[in-house]
Amino acid sequence: MLLHLNLCALFLALSPLASIAAPPSYDHPSQTVLSQAASSDILLRGLPILGPDNGCSKTLKTCDWMAKIPDNTPLVRMNLPGAHDTATWNYSDTTSYTRYPGPLPPADLLRCQERPLLQSLNDGIRVFDLRSIYDPSSDTIGFYHSLALSAATTTMTDVFFGLYQWLNEHPTEAVLLSINHEGGRFSAKIQEMMYDIINSDAEKKYWVQTSGSLGTLGQARGKLTLLQRFTFDLLPTYKTKRIGIQLDLSDRSKAFEWACNPPKVFELVYNADKGLTAFIQSYYASSHPLTPTPPQYIEEKFGVTTANLGNATLFNPDQLYISFASAPAMIVLRWLRVDMSPRMFALGNGTDTPGMNQKLLPWLKARKGSRFGVIMLDFYDAVPGLVEAVIGL
Ligand SMILES: *[C@@H]1O[C@H](CO)[C@@H](O)[C@H](O)[C@H]1NC(C)=O
Ligand SMILES: *[C@@H]1O[C@H](CO)[C@@H](O)[C@H](O)[C@H]1NC(C)=O
Ligand SMILES: *[C@@H]1O[C@H](CO)[C@@H](O)[C@H](O)[C@H]1NC(C)=O
Repeated sequence: MLLHLNLCALFLALSPLASIAAPPSYDHPSQTVLSQAASSDILLRGLPILGPDNGCSKTLKTCDWMAKIPDNTPLVRMNLPGAHDTATWNYSDTTSYTRYPGPLPPADLLRCQERPLLQSLNDGIRVFDLRSIYDPSSDTIGFYHSLALSAATTTMTDVFFGLYQWLNEHPTEAVLLSINHEGGRFSAKIQEMMYDIINSDAEKKYWVQTSGSLGTLGQARGKLTLLQRFTFDLLPTYKTKRIGIQLDLSDRSKAFEWACNPPKVFELVYNADKGLTAFIQSYYASSHPLTPTPPQYIEEKFGVTTANLGNATLFNPDQLYISFASAPAMIVLRWLRVDMSPRMFALGNGTDTPGMNQKLLPWLKARKGSRFGVIMLDFYDAVPGLVEAVIGL
């Protein structure tokens, strides 16, 4: 039980950012060359998380899928496929840097994706779940998953820069970033670093500047929208600017509710004045007291997930719904004993146990045309057609 509580707490931290010098627009050709060289440097550093951008065939339905949706569509009315714990896609025992004082579980238990960010965007994913951590060895903020850094040399700044580049090429698309800060104290220093990254002048044009509500697709196109899963509580008083919406989980009692306890759907009021609530299903514990079988876990989580998705199709069209269809963390750790990774959770074991993604596909298809909201997936690509089914293509 102690382990259980600690892990829940561990999984609910905050998120950081770094500061990027976006290349100013130079007129002189040699300066253009310089700024291009600087961009390539940043993209190279970002590669372990961003991956390469292999382009996006315009015949692919998922490529610029938002282009066809009217500008005045509220984001909360859309179906937005997301990648849970995206930065883990290339997580391995060799590439990843450990800050956990103990042996790490095998990498496949921490990996939730197999495709990097830029490819995910080309595949239609529009929401990323990024967990960040301050790395004192480089004095930067990087990405993390539960026990270890995903890539030791890639900073948050590098990753944002890659996303800006992608948005430059896909100006019809809107990308939401859910960011927390995990695994360590969210000190005043780290908070200020994050604040400065998000609010730097160079980055402003790439972030939706509205605070407290999600607007329309038209307002979000070509930009990132922040889903802030952390609280700025130690900033200097003059740093008052806020953007995006705050899905604040720093209150441990709420955090517990979010992840570990019934009610399995957590109603989070993120703007009391406007009556805006997020209905969030991020249940990653299990009501099974001991070690259940993989099918029991999958069945339970499928039930919880489709309960929230089902409500999204029926109720509150102007409220935000977020459903994590991803493997619960507790399951991952318990699976150390029963051979179940997030991959197996998503895909089953090949024959007799269907995974979450396989079960979700027909469920979504049967409700084509409905509003589902945000759905966070593990291994979204491994079941063909799943992203299309979320979007409703
Ligand atoms: C992914 O990890 C492998 C080692 O496991 C490494 O060789 C490869 O360069 C990594 N890919 C990227 C894009 O960083
Ligand atoms: C679905 O909505 C109904 C009606 O508001 C509510 O009673 C129920 O608790 C909701 N289910 C979940 C899983 O949130
Ligand atoms: C799949 O999982 C089920 C339930 O745990 C198990 O009974 C079955 O033997 C597994 N099948 C394979 C091919 O691993």
